[in-house]
Amino acid sequence: MTARPYIVGNWKMNGTRAMLAEARAIGRAAARFPGIDVGLAPPFTLLHAMADEVPEIVVGGQDCHASAGGAFTGDVSAPMLVDAGARFCIVGHSERREFHGEDDAMVRRKAEAALAAGLGVILCVGETGAERDAGAAEARVAAQLDGSLPRSEGAAARLAIAYEPIWAIGTGRVPSGAEITAMHRAIRARLVALHGEGGAAIRILYGGSVNPANASELLATDEVDGALVGGASLSADSFLAIVGAANGLIAA
Ligand code: 13P
Repeated sequence: MTARPYIVGNWKMNGTRAMLAEARAIGRAAARFPGIDVGLAPPFTLLHAMADEVPEIVVGGQDCHASAGGAFTGDVSAPMLVDAGARFCIVGHSERREFHGEDDAMVRRKAEAALAAGLGVILCVGETGAERDAGAAEARVAAQLDGSLPRSEGAAARLAIAYEPIWAIGTGRVPSGAEITAMHRAIRARLVALHGEGGAAIRILYGGSVNPANASELLATDEVDGALVGGASLSADSFLAIVGAANGLIAA
């Protein structure tokens, strides 16, 4: 674990204004954990209100368009996210790659657009179950990094990687600690190859079925610098239990 663990909740397509009460509860409690970077990525519709009402945490988008503006019906640009109060953006989530046909080149353009707007970026990578079974997990993730990692000057300082094995998302299944450590080491090697010294400091988060019961063990796994949490981030109680687990590890 790095000096500052990064625990981020991805609400996906969940949450109406009533859910802001959960975010406010998370914000109030986050003040008790000054050693942890706590973030939430709500749907676009809640971004501005959440950033306004919950200043104790960083709020981010789940996606952005690669262009700053224009005739792209239904899309949201990185400068718009900044205007709404976002400080980071998730790009390349497997659900975007699968349901919106986003390839590595597109993800890279989105990452560069987010950085150009002044946002931090959480770049998601991860293999399918079939790729892991075929022994191709590390090769798949290395290829995703080669194709989607932003390369612009200063990118490394505002970048985090989320390793999210697709077969672990929303399934209750998680890789073994040894599998996570091996993958995070392989990711680190690519980051250093592509970004030199800056690549050594990029935080690598684990995502996929992180919950209050397994958070301590997952966060204590070698080379894990934080977590990207889906379902368990939807209630303040379960998300805060995960933040508390991270805090217990840095306090230990
Ligand atoms: P779950 O925590 O629900 O498995 O989702 C993980 C995820 O996709 C976070 O981005």
